[in-house]
Amino acid sequence: MGRGPGLRKSLAEKFDDELKFFKGWIDKPKTVGSIVPTSSVTARKMASIVNPDSGLPVLEVGPGTGVITRAILARGIKPQNLYAVEYSTDFVRHLRTLYPGVNVIEGDAFNLDATLGEHKDVVFDSVVTGVPLLNFPVDQRIRYIESLLDRIPAGRPIVQLCYGPLSPIPPGRGNYTVEHFHFVLRNIPPTRLWIYRRPARN
Ligand SMILES: C[S@@+](CC[C@H](N)C(=O)[O-])C[C@H]1O[C@@H](n2cnc3c(N)ncnc32)[C@H](O)[C@@H]1O
Repeated sequence: MGRGPGLRKSLAEKFDDELKFFKGWIDKPKTVGSIVPTSSVTARKMASIVNPDSGLPVLEVGPGTGVITRAILARGIKPQNLYAVEYSTDFVRHLRTLYPGVNVIEGDAFNLDATLGEHKDVVFDSVVTGVPLLNFPVDQRIRYIESLLDRIPAGRPIVQLCYGPLSPIPPGRGNYTVEHFHFVLRNIPPTRLWIYRRPARN
């Protein structure tokens, strides 16, 4: 009995998130890259790479409706230690309402110095990214990953979600390693998670 209204509210919120996401996809299919948000299973797996004890902030790129944002906060990251870069004005507005305190920055992740502005020299613990890289040329994807790696300590991870069978960042094209982290069946569509790191110095 007690769970009824709570369950209805959470289902309504989930449905609302999915509608927002679908609308985002209709407006900008190349940028949004999927018709439904990432599953909570995938979100938790991606957030598992974050080290809440590092004392460093975390960078999320392409948060959309905020499924992964929620999972990162659930790892014990304080809202003020999370920076979320999102391109879509609608998603930005939604995220700022849902997660007051999180540094939601509106702008282009492919031009991070300009987008981060006064925060461009911040060193982050790790990066969680959902930008649909397959919609962009390979050279642009590599520049993107290198620019993210410049903002975290050597050895720390970037986790990227991708629906294709191969890493969207090919190995051997820059100063990074490529690891297959996970294949998540409980996602629409099933997705692979990839990890990129700068080799740690000896
Ligand atoms: C596949 S959706 C993932 C959304 C969310 N992380 C999730 O997993 O449900 C891609 C997200 O990346 C954002 N995005 C795409 N290109 C971007 C860019 N150049 N800069 C910042 N965000 C971008 C889109 O607006 C969208 O929110």
